[in-house]
Amino acid sequence: MSPYAHVVGWGRYVPERVLSNEELAHLVDTSDEWIRARTGIGERRIAGEEESTATMAIRAARQALEMAGVRPAQLDMVIVATITPDYLFPATACAVQDALGARHAGAFDLSAGCSGFVYGLGIGANLIAAGACRNVLVIGSETLSRVMDWSDRSTCVLFGDGAGAVLLQASDVPGGVLSVVLGADGSGGDLLWQPAGGSRHPASHYTVAERMHCLRMKGREVYRFAVQQIPQATREVLERAGIDIRDVALFVPHQANQRIIEAAARTLGVSPDRFYCNLERYGNTSAASIPIALVEALEAGRIQRDDVIVCVGFGAGLTWGAAAIRWSAPLPVAPLSRWASLVYRLRYWQAGARSAGRRLSRWIGARFNGRKSGENGRN
Ligand code: COA
Repeated sequence: MSPYAHVVGWGRYVPERVLSNEELAHLVDTSDEWIRARTGIGERRIAGEEESTATMAIRAARQALEMAGVRPAQLDMVIVATITPDYLFPATACAVQDALGARHAGAFDLSAGCSGFVYGLGIGANLIAAGACRNVLVIGSETLSRVMDWSDRSTCVLFGDGAGAVLLQASDVPGGVLSVVLGADGSGGDLLWQPAGGSRHPASHYTVAERMHCLRMKGREVYRFAVQQIPQATREVLERAGIDIRDVALFVPHQANQRIIEAAARTLGVSPDRFYCNLERYGNTSAASIPIALVEALEAGRIQRDDVIVCVGFGAGLTWGAAAIRWSAPLPVAPLSRWASLVYRLRYWQAGARSAGRRLSRWIGARFNGRKSGENGRN
């Protein structure tokens, strides 16, 4: 058994379409100055018509696999953290598993709001530590634009779409995910939620008319919760890992609001420069925000080998989570050769063909069996 869970691959995807604050000001009564001053957000990405939580997750996941040189068939588990799954069921993770051709992997979605990715890291690392899995793909992917109330200025300016992924791999070498803290307070469930669409309020004319399928938030309460919870979870996770806060090279917080991040940095007595921020370009992408920020920080050279980093999130639930990671993957990453890239393309094509083949054989089986049982019925 190899108890340590190392991050060996990573990827991110954001849609092409940029929605600026200025454009939003044509939709609702707001302004670029207000949004920037209160949140730090300048623009966000919006998924195209053909895109969804699954398609973005697949793109991020492929990058993570290819970087690590791991074949999809080597995956043991696919976890998709999301509050905007393609469907309530089946899980978006199953669509990802199918598209990748991860034929030996289990797959499930994880709903823990904007803390979802950190929850996924915790579960993935523990599956590895328990010896149940060797390769676990942890993805955060969101299409929040599809659950926005575009007439509500207090929420629609905040959120955006995108996906990020990491591949956790078992190793005997100490390092990787050092400690994880996960928490919840369900009494704050109605501070950030999507009231309809589940079993409590299934879709009806009423729920649609009342926009109950859209995200609703009590911003000030969430703000207060976040400012208190980030420092608390950060301290706790560092204590569990036995790491001094001064030894943390970079904090990768959930990207919800620049003021929240700055307030948390002040409380922790850490310079805000040590908190990675990309809110200005993407807004809040919920479960995708930490992995997107993490991958960008790596690309920008903000993380070096052997650095300790802390990912810390908070969100709907209410939930919170923090993970301390000693970065062990070699950096910078060598680009994939054309040949290796072609082999992966072929694998994905094969996965698509296999999936289509299974659907076809099910269809034929159903028709054949249907005819037979019909014949039996006549006899
Ligand atoms: N443009 C212009 N004015 C806006 C606005 C917008 N987009 N959104 C709200 N306002 C107005 C309000 O209507 C209010 O006007 P009023 O005083 O006339 O009633 C005023 O701005 C102040 O509203 P308030 O809600 O007190 O602003 P705030 O400083 O708390 O900022 C948030 C609002 C949402 C930016 C802030 O509360 C926040 O970031 N909360 C946390 C949200 C979050 O992170 N959610 C995700 C968690 S995962």
